[in-house]
Amino acid sequence: MAHVNAQCRLRNRPVGLPTADDFGYVEEPAPQPADGQFLVRVGHLSIDPAMRSWMNAGRSYVPPVGVGEVMRAAGIGEVVESRHPGHPVGQVVGGVFGVQRYALSDGEGVTPVDLSLGEAPVHLGALGFSGLTAHIGLLDIGRPRPGQTVVVSAAAGSVGSLTGQIAKINGCRAVGIAGGPDKCRFLLEELGFDGAVDYKAGGVRGQVRDLAPDGVDVFFDNVGGDILDDVLTTLAHGARVVISGAVSQYNAERGTRGPANYMQLLVKRATMTGFVVSDHAARFPAARTELSGWLRTGQLKEHTHLVTGGVAAFPEALLGLFAGKNTGKTVLAL
Ligand SMILES: NC(=O)c1ccc[n+]([C@@H]2O[C@H](COP(=O)([O-])OP(=O)(O)OC[C@H]3O[C@@H](n4cnc5c(N)ncnc54)[C@H](OP(=O)(O)O)[C@@H]3O)[C@@H](O)[C@H]2O)c1
Repeated sequence: MAHVNAQCRLRNRPVGLPTADDFGYVEEPAPQPADGQFLVRVGHLSIDPAMRSWMNAGRSYVPPVGVGEVMRAAGIGEVVESRHPGHPVGQVVGGVFGVQRYALSDGEGVTPVDLSLGEAPVHLGALGFSGLTAHIGLLDIGRPRPGQTVVVSAAAGSVGSLTGQIAKINGCRAVGIAGGPDKCRFLLEELGFDGAVDYKAGGVRGQVRDLAPDGVDVFFDNVGGDILDDVLTTLAHGARVVISGAVSQYNAERGTRGPANYMQLLVKRATMTGFVVSDHAARFPAARTELSGWLRTGQLKEHTHLVTGGVAAFPEALLGLFAGKNTGKTVLAL
C-alpha cells in the first residue's frame, strides 16, 4: 500500500522571526524506491537554530533551502522499503531527511544508528551534531586546561549544556549563561556547573566577573550580540573565544551586529575562532566514542525537549528555540 507523505515546505523567505505563514504543508503519496534507493519513515527530527539561516537567500556554510522545497532537517528513521543492498528494511538510519514523514534516499550521507547506545533523540543530541559540536569546539578549538574557567552561553540548550559538562569532565570550572532562574538552577543542581549567570536579570559583565575573578580562559559562545560583548571584557590573558553560533542574531533584520569590544582580544592577547563542526569529520569517531562512554558512566547527562504534533508542529518547535522554551536538545517527533 502506498504511504502518504506529509511535508513541510518553505513558502516564503522569512523577514525577521519566521511565522507559520512562511511554511506550507503538502500531503502526497510517498515515492517508490528505484534500484539503489530506499524509503525511510522518519521518526525524529533535530531542530536547530541554524535552520533559520538556511531560509535566507544568501549562502552561509551550506546553500539555502529553495522556496517551495522541503525544509532541510537531520533526522532518524526506519527503512520501510528498500532496493538498496546496504540498507535493508527495518534498519534504523540517520541522515538529512528533511521535514517530512517519508524520505527517499540513495544512501549518500546516511548512516546506521545503533539504538543500543541510546534512544533516537540522544543520537540527535549528545551523540549527534550537538555533542560533536560541544566536544570538538571546546576541546580542539577552545583547548581548556584543567583548572581553567570555561564560560558557555545558551548554556541550558543542547550544545551549551553538553559543553559545560565536558568542561567539568576535563577538570575545568564551568560557568553557564542562560535565561531565567529555572535554567540557572538546572545548570547548578542537575548538571553540576560551578556557576550560572541569568542574563535576563541584567548585569552580565558583573555576574561573570564575580564568578570568574581571575578571568575567563575559554568563552564558548552560542549567542553573540550583547552577551559576547560583555564576556569580551572579562577575558583572562591568552583566552580563547570559540564562535559556535550567534542565536541572538539569526533573526536580525538589518544584518548581524559585530562585537564592539573586540579590542579586548588585543589587550588580553586572546584569540577568537569560528568553526563549523562538519569540517572536522575525521574527529567524529573518536569524539563519539568518548561521548558515548561518558553517557554510559553517567558523567554526561542528555536532556531532550520533545515537541510532538508531527510535521505541522515544525514552526512551533523552531520558534521555541528563539523564545528559549527548550532545556536541552529540541527534537520534533513525527
Ligand atoms: N559551529 C557549529 O558547527 C555548530 C553546530 C551546531 C550548533 N551550533 C550553534 O550552537 C548554538 C546552540 O544551538 P543548539 O542547537 O544547542 O540550540 P539551543 O541552545 O538548544 O537553543 C537555543 C537557545 O538559545 C537561547 N537564546 C535564544 N535567543 C537568545 C537571545 N536572543 N539571547 C540569548 N540567548 C538566546 C535560548 O536559551 P535561553 O532561555 O537561555 O535564552 C535557547 O534555548 C547555536 O548558535 C547554533 O547555531 C553550531
